[in-house]
Amino acid sequence: MRAVRTSMKTELIPIDSLHPEQALIDQAAALLRAGGVVVFPTETVYGLGADALRAQAVERIFLAKDRPFSDPLIVHIASADALKILTTEMPPYLELLAGMFWPGPLTLIVPRGLQVPRIVTAGLDTVAVRMPRHPVALALIRALGSPIAAPSANRFKHVSPTTAQHAYADLNGRVPLILDAGQCEVGVESTVLDLCSDVPTILRPGGTSLEALQAVLPDVRYAPHHKLDQEDVRNEMEAQRAPGQLLTHYAPAIPLILYEGSAEAMRSAMLAEARRRQESGERVGALIADEDAPAFAESNAIIHSLGAATAPEQVAASLFAGLRALEMAGVEVILCRSFAASGLGLAVRDRLLRAASERVIAGDRGDVC
Ligand code: TXA
Ligand code: MG
Repeated sequence: MRAVRTSMKTELIPIDSLHPEQALIDQAAALLRAGGVVVFPTETVYGLGADALRAQAVERIFLAKDRPFSDPLIVHIASADALKILTTEMPPYLELLAGMFWPGPLTLIVPRGLQVPRIVTAGLDTVAVRMPRHPVALALIRALGSPIAAPSANRFKHVSPTTAQHAYADLNGRVPLILDAGQCEVGVESTVLDLCSDVPTILRPGGTSLEALQAVLPDVRYAPHHKLDQEDVRNEMEAQRAPGQLLTHYAPAIPLILYEGSAEAMRSAMLAEARRRQESGERVGALIADEDAPAFAESNAIIHSLGAATAPEQVAASLFAGLRALEMAGVEVILCRSFAASGLGLAVRDRLLRAASERVIAGDRGDVC
């Protein structure tokens, strides 16, 4: 593997998120045309993009992120016409789903077209495609005149960036340009839906809810992969079957303990654990909901609220920033409540289970499951 240049100067440039300045789009597109990488906003999280049809440009993405070449990328398009070159055939439901959900946070897995370099798909015969709805992302793809391959713009295994500053913290010195359009609206990554399996299957819950997909495709299947352990994933076969499904994929740099049960049970278990750890000198962080704030008023833990527990969109939008804020505050452990799994709550739950790895506490019983 080639070494990545880590001495590069990284420019962080503000751009209007609704009406992006054409000069800035052209500057970013020129970098991509020269085979480089650029960080740009999407409605879900920031992406680290390169021209999807040029293998050498795409290689730079993997090097900048320290991402293993076994983890395939999503190809971003600005018009459904691009499907003609990205896929060899239109699987059932592709047109229907693209019509309903694009542009938006839905990634569809389709058969790989011959022009898509193998490095993009990690050697798979399928390719992940999505049309983002962020005006900056769409303008950039159009200005380049080619699809853009882009994973989330974080270092491998770190939390996805929902602000340009998050991306800067991870990739400073590794990318030439970050377009800063402020905070991402959705806050969790796109839903990945496999259209090449017998039944359309959600491989990653995300910004398009299961309920919204079920309204169009009643048979859509969701098979959580949380029980995969890292040994399995290291196994070549397993990695090919479920790429990117590493249990600890979204792990923050510090341990996270996830609490389950009634709101009351979660609160008292978290408060008791915070007190116990603080007595032994640990710096404790807690991710809570607005409703929990009164109960935590007296706690000395560093508290971060993710919004109203009854508003999953709010929680999704602030989740990754909350994890990073506690990381930055220097806590040694994060105690986190869980949220209902409806709507975007399913994606929130998926990311929290991954971040918690095995550390889930059933609040009503007090034991680790
Ligand atoms: O919202 C998003 O999806 C963001 C923005 C930038 O678009 N992108 C993103 O990319 O989250 P990344 O690379 O962090 O996650 C892509 C996921 C990975 O879990 C990867 O394994 C999966 O999509 N994936 C990509 N190609 C695949 C394929 N051919 N088959 C199965 N899974 C695939
Ligand atoms: Mg990612």
